Amino acid sequence: MVSKTKKVVTIVGQGYVGLPLAQAAAHAGWTVWGLDVTPTLVDLLNSGQSHIDDLSDSDIRGMLEAGYRATTDPSVVSSSDVVVICVPTPLGEGGSPDLGAVKGASRTVGDNLVAGTTVILESTTYPGTTDDVVRPLLEMNSGLTAGTDFELAYSPERVDPGSKKYGIKNTPKLMGGITDASTQAAVAFYGSFVDQPVPMAGMREAETAKLLENTFRHVNIALVNEMAKFCKELNIDIWEVIRGASTKPFGFMKFTPGPGVGGHCIPIDPNYLSYEVRNQLGYPFRFVELAQEINNSMPRYVVERVGDLLNEHRKPINGSEILILGVTYKADIADQRESPALPVAEILLERGATVRFHDPMIDTWQLGATSLVREPDLGAAVNEVDAVVVLQAHDSYNLEAIANDSKLMLDTRGVAPRPAVRL
Ligand SMILES: NC(=O)c1ccc[n+]([C@@H]2O[C@H](COP(=O)([O-])OP(=O)(O)OC[C@H]3O[C@@H](n4cnc5c(N)ncnc54)[C@H](O)[C@@H]3O)[C@@H](O)[C@H]2O)c1
Repeated sequence: MVSKTKKVVTIVGQGYVGLPLAQAAAHAGWTVWGLDVTPTLVDLLNSGQSHIDDLSDSDIRGMLEAGYRATTDPSVVSSSDVVVICVPTPLGEGGSPDLGAVKGASRTVGDNLVAGTTVILESTTYPGTTDDVVRPLLEMNSGLTAGTDFELAYSPERVDPGSKKYGIKNTPKLMGGITDASTQAAVAFYGSFVDQPVPMAGMREAETAKLLENTFRHVNIALVNEMAKFCKELNIDIWEVIRGASTKPFGFMKFTPGPGVGGHCIPIDPNYLSYEVRNQLGYPFRFVELAQEINNSMPRYVVERVGDLLNEHRKPINGSEILILGVTYKADIADQRESPALPVAEILLERGATVRFHDPMIDTWQLGATSLVREPDLGAAVNEVDAVVVLQAHDSYNLEAIANDSKLMLDTRGVAPRPAVRL
């Protein structure tokens, strides 16, 4: 039974962001409604099963015991002290922001909103969304006024999927409200389970800070990717260059080359910022566009490197069997969203290769219309194929052994010990 004496929060969207937030709030003593539009997901969660890497089934059962329930019923909003919106913000037609889920959730919350509630947007989005898109929908559908009848704030999520070091509690959290009182209401909510809430001057600053963080990663990954390409041409070992530069204790942060960027954030969020800069100011955000161009070129570069290595063995890509190791976007998690493994495989297929795959986190891999089944015997597959390409260095891989047992291996993550061939 849901307790009536505890404070109530509704978290809209029970995905990678909303579900861990629901867990943190439930264990901090909140009664938590996990509101989602997907009935099968709601049933799954209420039966004690998880659908994301960072939470186990036993975590969900612990949440249910602590006062968490998933629901599709939006009327829970009307009995909530706090409502947090954590719905997806993908790219739509032509790479422009798709705020469909944010608008839908805002209308639903507005329809059920009562005076005195604090509404917080967590979805990553372009500056101005909370004030220009969310606020009008909440106000129109509720008849209430933000900053007067209800509090409104933006607080970006900073989840690091799969991280054992940083979770919700020990990651400082930004929050900016439409008024100081709104900021303080958000601080009061997050302060109940986050060690360091960080009040911001306003909603736009909080929105833009998140995009600066993601753009910073995007740009720096592009920097080392571009360097990796020309260092190869100049016969300079980029991995040794990075190892050396990383010994500098100040003014340098280590980024490593790879097959491209993946996940829900880095390939998508900076586009929200560049879109809005162009939309409002009419000029490009050049760093984002350049980073995108370079990072998007990496899958093709990986295939070129595979082609060069096969060539040394007097083999063409056409007709070769290539084993891809690791198809998720990050090591040791099962999330495949925007993974560069897909374009790498597509280009290999285009060039006539036979693609096989192994990933400890994935049983079947959807390659366009084809479902590839994971190689049942990694050792046998490594022996059989013409080339192995490591796209994701999952912990369970012994890359030294795989390099020794394969005809040739390209390690795009620079993890296999020398003399393994790296990107
Ligand atoms: N995944 C990450 O690592 C990460 C990190 C930081 C920020 N973010 C941002 O957080 C937001 C959410 O991302 P996510 O990864 O949790 O997405 P997700 O796809 O994992 O989950 C979103 C959930 O929202 C539900 N949903 C969609 N529309 C809805 C609506 N109108 N009402 C109620 N529920 C609805 C979906 O059914 C889904 O279960 C995005 O803006 C994303 O950019 C994600």
